[in-house]
Amino acid sequence: MPAERIIDLRSDTVTRPSAGMRRAMAEAEVGDDVLDGDPTTRRLEERIAELIGCEAALFFPSGVQANQTAIWLHAERGTEVLLEATAHLVLYEMAGIAGLAGAQIRPVRTPDGVLTAALLREAWPAASPHVPRLSALAVENTHNAAGGRVMPLPVWEEIVALATERGVRLHLDGARVWHAAVAQDLAPAQVARGASSVMVSLSKGLGCPVGSCLAGSAAFIGAAREVRRRFGGAMRQSGILAAAGLYALDHNLGRLAEDHANARLLAERLAGHPNVRPLSPDTNIVMLDLTGEAMTADSVLPVLADAGVRVVPFGPKRLRAVTHVDVSHDDVRWAADTIAQVLA
Ligand SMILES: Cc1ncc(COP(=O)(O)O)c(C=O)c1O
Repeated sequence: MPAERIIDLRSDTVTRPSAGMRRAMAEAEVGDDVLDGDPTTRRLEERIAELIGCEAALFFPSGVQANQTAIWLHAERGTEVLLEATAHLVLYEMAGIAGLAGAQIRPVRTPDGVLTAALLREAWPAASPHVPRLSALAVENTHNAAGGRVMPLPVWEEIVALATERGVRLHLDGARVWHAAVAQDLAPAQVARGASSVMVSLSKGLGCPVGSCLAGSAAFIGAAREVRRRFGGAMRQSGILAAAGLYALDHNLGRLAEDHANARLLAERLAGHPNVRPLSPDTNIVMLDLTGEAMTADSVLPVLADAGVRVVPFGPKRLRAVTHVDVSHDDVRWAADTIAQVLA
């Protein structure tokens, strides 16, 4: 029998553009952004620069390309980049730091995905003719693989101070920096202050079909424009996509607290279940640990999908569920109750 509903909690990237967003895209004023500029893209870049508190920003087709452009510019060949061991830049970007920038990663293990200045100091390579020099730090906030963990502002500020003291560049992978800001009741610019560059996504949590931006100084963004072109990311009538971003900033940024509340609802409804233990979410990502002895992510996923709840595996006994603009409070309550029944 087909499931009563299908609630897709695999990621906050599964969202479909709303009717209003599609209309804004269809009506966007456009130009050739490689030749002489696209006016809607320019407006989006200016909005993002202002929101993030940087001089300039640049629109990219993907977060990976924006991250890799930043690292390419910050990390000299044959040097190292220090980052958290389960960062998106380490796990999911096809070894771009090595393959594109020609730099090596120095991964730091943390108990909860939150790097600290103390952990970075400990991991910092000694100055030696036999050891590669460190040229950049990268921080992810919120941290995806750690279940949407927020880096608290004081921790971030200590990392900024350390990067400044040691003269290395600091990149912020802020795919979900919006969520980090909302969770701390801060403006995105406060969460990003002090970074040499900031990547933000529009296609995660904000409901856009495509798009990320890189923000930084005017000089850095000028250089990033050249690298984006080299990576094949310069687009023509990109205003159609940028219009979705502007629409999302106007309509979807202000509702992220609902996603956080829905994630808490999911975790609360599953708390105390004999076979699944939800980790307490900071933002819109809930990790679900299977405590039932014979249960594995691979064995329960298809059963959950048949019952109408889609989630992804995040380890042999861990599932990830992400709340987003296309799932309501009622959908999440239904999904939690369905998970509880299926895993009973
Ligand atoms: C933290 C983080 N950084 C970067 C990316 C890459 O973004 P994209 O899929 O747009 O390339 C993702 C994607 O999920 C992410 O979660």
